[in-house]
Amino acid sequence: MRDSHFPPPPLIVALDFARPREALRLAGQLDPGRCRLKVGKELFTRGGPRLVERLVGSGFELFLDLKYHDIPNTVAGACAAAADLGVWMVNVHALGGRRMMEAARDAIESQAHRPLLVAVTVLTSMDQSAMREVGLSGTPQEAVGRLAGLAREAGMDGVVCSAHEASVLRSLYGREFCLVTPGVRPAAAERGDQKRVMTPGAARRAGADYLVVGRPVTAAPEPLRALAAIEAELAA
Ligand code: C5P
Repeated sequence: MRDSHFPPPPLIVALDFARPREALRLAGQLDPGRCRLKVGKELFTRGGPRLVERLVGSGFELFLDLKYHDIPNTVAGACAAAADLGVWMVNVHALGGRRMMEAARDAIESQAHRPLLVAVTVLTSMDQSAMREVGLSGTPQEAVGRLAGLAREAGMDGVVCSAHEASVLRSLYGREFCLVTPGVRPAAAERGDQKRVMTPGAARRAGADYLVVGRPVTAAPEPLRALAAIEAELAA
């Protein structure tokens, strides 16, 4: 079990596995004192709330990454349900708008256990041309800045963004606004479908509070070694 006097370092391992048993196998090799875990849509759809409770019960701070995006009432109910699972962090899409984010915030504030609530700005898999196709104007940095400002006004604890936007958001919104950055890629790792990527060390220097790392660890021949290499880069 994690010692609450020593919060774990900023790594969040994304358990993007098709089968719960694969996720549990990796989680069983990880130390809650060294990383947090993230359960996303694929694993949640397979493993459901019982898997989340099991991971939380084994001492991990868990980010439930279901990126809720729906009408305010529905998202509020989903956030309250996530809080009941004891998760550390939950998220919504900032594109759901101010009222949706406010409803989500109100819902978790009335829960016995209040997770951190963050809003996804622009997915790290999107570049400017992908943004334009869905009607988002400006550069990724401009759109992320706009959505992060809205998220902050709506009472979010922070945002999910790429590390490329982290330093600007940090200077605009200060230390208390939490920045979660996926799209983290050690220098030698494959990008996969991610577009706005950065190395772990550079992401931290840019001001990210938490780094989400999936395939560079989970798809590595030796996941624990890959994780240790990222930790070493962060410590350097
Ligand atoms: O494997 P990889 O390191 O690219 O995994 C990144 C993880 O972060 C995935 O689980 C993905 O769903 C999530 N994520 C993301 N971009 C966001 C929000 C979450 O890549 N904006």
